[in-house]
Amino acid sequence: MIGSCAIVELRKALSFLLILSTCVSGAQLRPQIPSLASFTPSDGVFELPSIVQIAVDSEYANQGSPSLLDFARTFQADLKEVVPYVTLAPISLSTSDPEHFAPVPTIYLTLDPSAQFNLYNGRPTEEGYRFQVTHNSYVIAGAAPVGVWWGTRTLLQQAALSLAQGAKTVSFSAGQGFDSPGWELNEMHLHASDNLWNPAFLYGEGNEGWKHLYAAFRFRPPAGSALEGLVPRKNESWAKREFLEMQATCAGHGVTVIPEIDTPGHSLVINQWKPELMEAGAPDHLNLSYPETIPTIKSIWDEFLPWFSATEVSIGADEYDAALANDYISFVNEMSTYIGLKSNKSIRIWGTNEPSQTMSVSKDITIQHWDFPGDDIPVQLLSKGYRVINSEQAFLYLDGKTSEAGQFPQQLDEDLLWSGAPGGRGWAPNVFSRTDATNNTSPDAANLRGAIFALWNDWGNNATTALEIYYQLARSVALFGEKVWAGSDVRATALARDQFDAAYPALNAAAPGQNLNRVVKPHHGNIIYEFPGAHRSLRTNVSSVGPPYTLEFSVKPDPGSPSAGLLFAGVDSRLHVANLTFEATGQLYPLGYILPADRFTSVAVRATREYTYAIIDGDEANPRYWYTLMDIWGDYMALGNMSFAAPSQSVGGGGFGGEIRDIRLTIDVDGGPPV
Ligand SMILES: *[C@@H]1O[C@H](CO)[C@@H](O)[C@H](O)[C@H]1NC(C)=O
Ligand SMILES: *[C@@H]1O[C@H](CO)[C@@H](O)[C@H](O)[C@H]1NC(C)=O
Ligand SMILES: *[C@@H]1O[C@H](CO)[C@@H](O)[C@H](O)[C@H]1NC(C)=O
Ligand SMILES: *[C@@H]1O[C@H](CO)[C@@H](O)[C@H](O)[C@H]1NC(C)=O
Ligand SMILES: *[C@@H]1O[C@H](CO)[C@@H](O)[C@H](O)[C@H]1NC(C)=O
Ligand SMILES: *[C@@H]1O[C@H](CO)[C@@H](O)[C@H](O)[C@H]1NC(C)=O
Ligand SMILES: *[C@@H]1O[C@H](CO)[C@@H](O)[C@H](O)[C@H]1NC(C)=O
Ligand SMILES: *[C@@H]1O[C@H](CO)[C@@H](O)[C@H](O)[C@H]1NC(C)=O
Repeated sequence: MIGSCAIVELRKALSFLLILSTCVSGAQLRPQIPSLASFTPSDGVFELPSIVQIAVDSEYANQGSPSLLDFARTFQADLKEVVPYVTLAPISLSTSDPEHFAPVPTIYLTLDPSAQFNLYNGRPTEEGYRFQVTHNSYVIAGAAPVGVWWGTRTLLQQAALSLAQGAKTVSFSAGQGFDSPGWELNEMHLHASDNLWNPAFLYGEGNEGWKHLYAAFRFRPPAGSALEGLVPRKNESWAKREFLEMQATCAGHGVTVIPEIDTPGHSLVINQWKPELMEAGAPDHLNLSYPETIPTIKSIWDEFLPWFSATEVSIGADEYDAALANDYISFVNEMSTYIGLKSNKSIRIWGTNEPSQTMSVSKDITIQHWDFPGDDIPVQLLSKGYRVINSEQAFLYLDGKTSEAGQFPQQLDEDLLWSGAPGGRGWAPNVFSRTDATNNTSPDAANLRGAIFALWNDWGNNATTALEIYYQLARSVALFGEKVWAGSDVRATALARDQFDAAYPALNAAAPGQNLNRVVKPHHGNIIYEFPGAHRSLRTNVSSVGPPYTLEFSVKPDPGSPSAGLLFAGVDSRLHVANLTFEATGQLYPLGYILPADRFTSVAVRATREYTYAIIDGDEANPRYWYTLMDIWGDYMALGNMSFAAPSQSVGGGGFGGEIRDIRLTIDVDGGPPV
């Protein structure tokens, strides 16, 4: 296929005939996400046998944290999931050359400390790897353990794509390749403190609404800590152990967690705890001039810095008073020094227009650009010597289910990412402006670190479920991954849009170590399960089913307690009898329908990733949607549809009295809502 030829970066010396012949021999790698920098096929293939031997170079097995061996173990489990026919042999440790294992086909993971991989700006990166495939070995040699990790992702993607295209067994083309990213950053940035923004409550003369406006701090100090009052919503925060587990899981998958505690703006949660630190007239701003303010901020970092394994943290520091520029700048610089001394970590701030004639933010601090023109201008920051991360909102912001006047899309705007840069070119971290090329840099700009896209959650804790956030992010993360790894117009091997579109569905479906799509194989036809007859309570073997699905049943609650208990429950959602209320991520969403206690009511719950509705007693003309109500900047309330996974694990329970009968759960290819 022409497409697969295009991903191979062939040396210029190769003739057209040779290109043609390698294509004809079918030895190409399939376009994957992100794209591969280089692969040169040679004769033969590595057939993945049913018993796979994975060997780790014993010289480096324990190097790094996570170590090469840690990554190897995760890879082994992932391989079993992606290629179900394989049986896992124990991982062996060996100093030997992989040829040593012949004739047992072996995947060999090692490091090559002499290998030098560079970002586009010329700085070295540990994320690079090369790989060499022969008929009996698949060797991945990384600059560091994380480089090997990316090499294992390439192997898995090639396996998944070949199985998705109908291959019965997996074979990898022999040859050699290498890969490394163009920019740094493979991170999950957690904006862990903030509040809803409601101007009337926050800045209205004499308005006390700020005292109760939703504000949250997501790291929970231990009981008895002096900071306990900072986290009133304990059920919406991480205890240390939970956070460390998540951070370790991310690190074990090559992802660094960058925590952000945002001050001195966006600090309502601190002022609700200590109103004496508030800037008069602005309850979401701290007054940095009070003698207790900076010590309080430092005490918060003192508590949580030991939790964080990243070498950097973000102190937020956005949207503070321009009139207090010097207070702001000296605060930011003081925090940089303080956090550096305390933990040897460096800091990031959001770009913020703080006009001062006399002071400037230290060049040790990375600036995360997000907005023109109030923000500092990235090309100017770069030329002054600041290190810059691109989070320009025109390309990279999402804001939950809705945003004012459609300001931000539901998912990253793919037209923009493929062709929204000046001249109709593709977006990449060096592109900050759609219209003005002078605001963009070249991909190799010395201090351009990379890009981060944002999913903000401005509409409170009941606007979206955790799975809805996954739906919003999944495809965007993959596309963004390609753009921040390879860029646009740098490598000939970067993906074309049709290649991404073709590869994504199969790769999303095959992603190992998770089942966020909540896919359950139907029992027969499209039926997940069927329970004819009447039931008061029942347990099934299906914990949750992702949309699209239809859940049908008839129900008659006991007259005694018509609204007690649960109709259905699963790991992601529950359906209460009362008002037919769905519960997900700790929040309640009533349908407002009261089931009569004197007869059976038939209910069909239908869900897609965009909405969930019920048809009551077959009244197809009146679909009833489960909604959330979102407070948009305190201006107006907006309805939003809710998508719930099917609560498929149990029927009845939680005090339910009554009968549920003729239960049937099917997966759909939903034709859309009835009109
Ligand atoms: C901030 O604190 C300083 C020092 O106490 C005080 O002079 C100033 O009026 C305060 N400003 C606001 C807006 O609260
Ligand atoms: C401090 O951090 C820097 C940058 O991450 C690192 O190179 C250095 O080794 C660290 N120093 C100590 C004492 O840990
Ligand atoms: C480009 O940068 C200039 C300052 O150099 C700024 O004033 C302008 O708003 C930017 N334009 C766009 C379209 O981003
Ligand atoms: C649930 O159990 C049924 C019957 O025992 C079985 O056929 C089906 O495969 C199981 N489903 C799951 C998801 O385990
Ligand atoms: C049902 O919903 C109505 C209106 O939202 C509410 O007033 C009532 O308390 C709810 N009943 C139950 C049992 O939850
Ligand atoms: C946490 O508890 C509060 C108060 O009971 C409740 O309003 C909120 O919905 C809960 N959040 C979660 C995620 O359970
Ligand atoms: C969600 O929260 C908002 C306030 O932010 C509230 O008005 C609304 O009633 C809540 N519940 C639902 C189901 O929308
Ligand atoms: C909910 O989804 C339905 C079906 O797509 C749509 O007709 C309706 O406008 C949506 N409602 C809201 C509030 O978005």
